[in-house]
Amino acid sequence: MIHYNPETRTFSLNGRSSQYTMQVDYNERLVHISWGPRPKDADETAVLSGNNRFMAAGFTSFEFQGSKDELLAYGDTTMHEVALKIAFPDLPASLTEAETLHTPIRDVRLRYKSHEIVMDAQPGLLPLHGLPTQNNEPRETLRIQLQDPTQPLTVTLCYRLTPEHDIFERWIELYNSGDSALFVEQCSFASLHLPSRTTEITSIHGSWAAEFTQQRQIIPVGTFALGHRSVQTGHSSNPFFMANRPGQAWEESGLVYFGTLAFSGAWQIAFDHQHSGDVRVLGGYNPFDFELVLAPKETHVTPAFVCGVCENGWGGASRRLHRFARERVLPETPTRPVLYNSWEATYFDLNADGQMALARKAAAMGVELFVVDDGWFGGRRTDFAGLGDWWVSSDVFPEGLQPLIDEVHQLGMQFGLWFEPEMVNPDSDLYRQHPDWVLHFPGRPRTEARFQLVLDFGREEVVDYIFTAIDTILSQHDIDFIKWDMNRNVTEPGSVAGKAIWRAHVAGVYQLMDKLRQKHSKLSIQSCSGGGGRIDLGMLARTDQVWTSDNTDALDRIRIQEGFSLAYPARAMESWVTHEKNHQTGRIAELSTRFDVAMRGALGIGSNLNELDAAELKDYARHIAFYKKIRHVVQEGDLYRLARLEEDGTTAVCYVLSDGSEAVYSVAVKDHVLGFYRSPMPLHGLVSHAIYTITDIDAYEVARLTGYELMVQGIPGDAIGTAGYSRTLYLKAAG
Ligand code: DGJ
Repeated sequence: MIHYNPETRTFSLNGRSSQYTMQVDYNERLVHISWGPRPKDADETAVLSGNNRFMAAGFTSFEFQGSKDELLAYGDTTMHEVALKIAFPDLPASLTEAETLHTPIRDVRLRYKSHEIVMDAQPGLLPLHGLPTQNNEPRETLRIQLQDPTQPLTVTLCYRLTPEHDIFERWIELYNSGDSALFVEQCSFASLHLPSRTTEITSIHGSWAAEFTQQRQIIPVGTFALGHRSVQTGHSSNPFFMANRPGQAWEESGLVYFGTLAFSGAWQIAFDHQHSGDVRVLGGYNPFDFELVLAPKETHVTPAFVCGVCENGWGGASRRLHRFARERVLPETPTRPVLYNSWEATYFDLNADGQMALARKAAAMGVELFVVDDGWFGGRRTDFAGLGDWWVSSDVFPEGLQPLIDEVHQLGMQFGLWFEPEMVNPDSDLYRQHPDWVLHFPGRPRTEARFQLVLDFGREEVVDYIFTAIDTILSQHDIDFIKWDMNRNVTEPGSVAGKAIWRAHVAGVYQLMDKLRQKHSKLSIQSCSGGGGRIDLGMLARTDQVWTSDNTDALDRIRIQEGFSLAYPARAMESWVTHEKNHQTGRIAELSTRFDVAMRGALGIGSNLNELDAAELKDYARHIAFYKKIRHVVQEGDLYRLARLEEDGTTAVCYVLSDGSEAVYSVAVKDHVLGFYRSPMPLHGLVSHAIYTITDIDAYEVARLTGYELMVQGIPGDAIGTAGYSRTLYLKAAG
């Protein structure tokens, strides 16, 4: 519930177990008061006086502002990191000529003007595809208007509360009420104030094939920034953090703050840790090469910074984010189908008969969605050529795609197709016709990566062209799914949109996805950027699943998937079983290990089925059947990380349906040091008095135990062996 108390002029956003409060002070500034757990006995009407200045005004001549501005803007007395910086070109008419030299004015003073509580206001770049999410209940949104006393600027601070998850989305709306353009030089979606010394930060970094590497460190006094400077979210860092006071949070206990951006372009989350212990977090557009020109009477609405707090440790914070993403972000679809993707089977060496043969084998083992990857179009016989020429290649499919699609459908599977819409190879018809349609600076080299250049989505005609190209394929064929790939970072970002290209590109991608989904209502989309380079809540709002990593080595995936699970739900995490000898690492892993790890998300198969003998094909089918039995728990259940890799090389997780009636337990050992033993790991989230039957892949009963026993002592005899040991068990409560 959102409350306003007119006597104290305090705003309270009450979640199920948390509160967030701020106040309009005597200077009409909106100042932050608190954010954290709500005392258990406090009711909705509990009032805060708001008298929490951290320093008397004028206490020293080096620090002038003793309260925490809710939105940190450059101007007034600010001298630290800011969320908003604007240059105002216009001067008051009364100024002397000498004073006109003091320009442009960079002084944003935000003073309270009004507020309203509305239902379901929407942040910027929200999905326009119109598809429902699992929960569409309207939510309260607090909108507080702040105005500069002399400049033509109104900033509306927006807070949309999802009380059941103690999460709110924050964004700002900038309105230029004047007659000249305003130049926004820095713009976060929100600034957050964490309680003093909340300095232990968990974040994710990585690279191609090594996505979702976790790091946890105590930030020193100073500024620490996570970010990516390209037109996609990036492998190098993911727009997500958790924060706690050092030594005061663990996997299942302790107060943890978290935040993540619903934006898939150049982003930054900066932590400003001050000598005083104050920790401020600024999340939004990356300030590097940033420009936003706000035309007269124009409003800019930023995307959302999704934030929350949880008293149940890092695990609790992850579960909040998972539920939020499942219920409020991802388009509502049935559980994700078992997918087959032929990329690692054939790479560019694909042909109609070969795909047909793979499809038959895939269907026979229980696959539900057959995806043709790169190489089906234009002159794309290698990665040197063809990107941009989105028509079916008669070299590969002499009779077109339709016979294969028909066969796939007759086999009872959905059909999916790969695209990389934002790119072009110089060796393509598209580039030969429109060499000016790519990002570049005039007269300067155009750096190719994977032999490709990035299309200039600052040009409307380019976005329109790509829409027509994909729409034509989707309209001519019965296609259920597209894999949307993106395989390079941006360099030389010269565009007709100027510096606005950083935002324009993202808007173009979102627009394309939304329009395609709107027009082709049964279409699903998978986001891929050379693996996990484009995963964030903005992307999850318009896709159904994401490709986690090109690294399909099961032992490496244990680590990658654990990192993914910090922020994103298993339902969206596509994970494949591939060849016995992994193509990326050359490591050999048992089939059961490969399945046990891949079954932790949305299962896919990427092996060359032609290389498997009858017994192996049967074994694949056996695992797929098991996955289908447990997948509703994996995809819809709450995830508990029972053992984390950093502890001793083992991960164990359980997924539990919200009523505790069913659970899946999965253990996988990445590294094991001989002579080290560990006790079974207690489970979480079960019903103490319920009796659970625990069965394995062959429905063999491993044990029958109460929830209490399982949550106190774990699964007895769960001997955890050497590297590569794994197992998956299904738990069902009686009755
Ligand atoms: C990169 C993707 O991550 C792979 O899965 C595959 O689709 C290739 N691109 C195709 O070029």
